[in-house]
Amino acid sequence: MKVYKTLLAITLLIAGMVACSEMNNKSDSGEATSSKEKQYAIFDDNNNLLRPKDYRSWIFMGTSSTPKSEDPNVIFPDFQNVYIDPVSFAYWKKHGEWREGTIIVKELLRQGDAVSSVGHGFFQGAHFEVAAQVKDSKRFPTMHNGWNYFGFADFEKLKLNEASIPLGNQCASCHNNTAIDGDVFYQYYPVILAAKGYGDGNPENENTRPGLVADYKYVSAVKMNPNCK
Ligand code: HEC
Repeated sequence: MKVYKTLLAITLLIAGMVACSEMNNKSDSGEATSSKEKQYAIFDDNNNLLRPKDYRSWIFMGTSSTPKSEDPNVIFPDFQNVYIDPVSFAYWKKHGEWREGTIIVKELLRQGDAVSSVGHGFFQGAHFEVAAQVKDSKRFPTMHNGWNYFGFADFEKLKLNEASIPLGNQCASCHNNTAIDGDVFYQYYPVILAAKGYGDGNPENENTRPGLVADYKYVSAVKMNPNCK
């Protein structure tokens, strides 16, 4: 009798462990559960995005340098450092799609110096703007694929605001017309191109794939954007 009781206890224990591991697998897999995962875009009750403050510890997408500064007070180029939250990057790497809740932050820095000890170049200087775009189809159902746009600099008061209203089409129209998927300019971020739907492993360690991703087509924003003639 004692043997039977022990066997029963062991069977129940194993059954419990299997059920738990199945639940864990389910919560690890994909779309249905992704919205329950950590969200980095935090909104107030009026759909204003609170300024993200820890984005420099997220995944670094890349840097673009513009021919003209976004700051009306300077005419020199600025740098635009772009970061994505780590959970959305993992989702992109696994599925090749942006998850609901994806937040991408762009910080703008002035050009600091044009000369260094090793010669001429463009070197990063003072930080003056934080902008972001967030995919949230429930919150922004009329926006293209649910993406809305936010900017935190108050150029008159020379400070960064704590929150931004959704800026909508004043930003979206250009992204919709010229970004590779109508939302994110990932044609300019090799980190993101290489990771698209890559699955397990590290795309940065792969040198064997020509063209990085099958559907990659370089789209020149300069030719397509009527504002950039
Ligand atoms: C005239 C076109 C244009 C307008 C208008 C525009 N953007 Fe962009 N945006 C770009 C381009 C081109 C890039 C990619 C290169 C770069 O970083 O400059 C970009 C990149 C970004 C990125 C980094 C992620 C990505 O999609 O590449 C964010 C975030 C962003 N823009 C936010 C905004 C916000 C907020 C506004 C409105 C205040 C705005 N944009 C208006 C052209 C535009």
